[in-house]
Amino acid sequence: MLPTPTDEERRLAALVRAHDRWRGREVFNLLPSENAVSPTARRYLASDLAGRYTLPVPTEMEGETLDNSYTGTRYTDQIESLANASAARLFHARFATTRPLSGHIAALSALAPLLPRGSRILAIPPSEGGYDGYAPGFVPSLLDYTVRPLPANGPGHRVEAAQAVETIRRERPNAVVLGQSFFLFPYPLREIAEAAHAVDALVLYDGSHVLGLIAGGEFQDPLREGADVLFGSTHKSFPGPQGGLLVTDREDLFDALDPALVWRVFDNAHWNRIAGLAQTLLELERCGKEYASTVVANSQALGRALSDRGLPLIAEAEGFSRSHQLHLDRPRLRAETGLGGGAFARRLERQRLLIDLVGRIGTAEATRLGLTPADMPRLADLIVRGGVEGARVGSEVLAWRKQFRSLRFA
Ligand SMILES: Cc1ncc(COP(=O)(O)O)c(C=O)c1O
Repeated sequence: MLPTPTDEERRLAALVRAHDRWRGREVFNLLPSENAVSPTARRYLASDLAGRYTLPVPTEMEGETLDNSYTGTRYTDQIESLANASAARLFHARFATTRPLSGHIAALSALAPLLPRGSRILAIPPSEGGYDGYAPGFVPSLLDYTVRPLPANGPGHRVEAAQAVETIRRERPNAVVLGQSFFLFPYPLREIAEAAHAVDALVLYDGSHVLGLIAGGEFQDPLREGADVLFGSTHKSFPGPQGGLLVTDREDLFDALDPALVWRVFDNAHWNRIAGLAQTLLELERCGKEYASTVVANSQALGRALSDRGLPLIAEAEGFSRSHQLHLDRPRLRAETGLGGGAFARRLERQRLLIDLVGRIGTAEATRLGLTPADMPRLADLIVRGGVEGARVGSEVLAWRKQFRSLRFA
């Protein structure tokens, strides 16, 4: 007898179908933390790899040396080599690991093996656009670090070279952790790295938000400009499955770091994710340059078009952005329209336009759909009419969205 699905199972199936239809076909996703995964990578995510283990770590057992705890891994191990080799080529790095399960885990993967308990780190505070994970009470308290602020206090949360160098000389940290969740402009990295290395501090670059841009030669080239390690999420501007990666040119650091990850930061590395990530890396080797330059051109064009229509944005004088993000000027939005950033985003959500509740707008997924700078005035029009004027633009958005049926750069 065939087993009959329960009501809950049917409800679950309906919810997943509804989600896929809504998020995959009926909205424009302008969340800068997300992206669209290529069809081939999605196939690999759903492959048999999703349930498999491999742990190629030598283990002693009753006088026998085992090279893996599992059998059946002949293809998995080759898939990992392929992913790591592609990551190394794409980021022009000598060493790469695609095992970290997310951007946060990639941060732990760099910090825990390289900086002992009691270390001092500099990181940008969340109030100045930094990642919450580096604030006191989160990663620093987990690893028993002291964290001191690296200022990013101008409009657009920019790190200024002279102020950063002065802070590094004064604080003499063991590591400078760069990277922001609100990330519009590249760092003066050569000056920061020179000052950090002069006090024997490592420079760890959290590229979670801008990894896809770096992969395509945009934004900045952290390892060439002096960062010791680059790591980050593989699913924000980088258009892969949710996960993380880490690259470095320094053999001494990789040798200290790579063998320390298993059992310290994670155990199984989720091989379906790594196969999907390998596919995305290979796709970016083919067309990452065009993808990344179009993402940045789109964010600058959208910034101009929104500003021309009266939406207040940060950093107009600097061209709005060098990344996939734009930032709403929330105080001005409230003063001029009476709307908070959250209320503005909820209005847009009802009209099938997704931005985040904290005031960021992103162009990565729209670029994957095939939108170009020529489309940005129309998109800006819909955002201002739907978000500021409260107009019902949802059906117009839906009709336009339906014209984009496949992904570019995939
Ligand atoms: C700068 C930065 N680092 C790390 C993370 C965590 O990434 P994940 O969600 O992949 O763990 C984020 C998340 O937004 C981030 O903005």
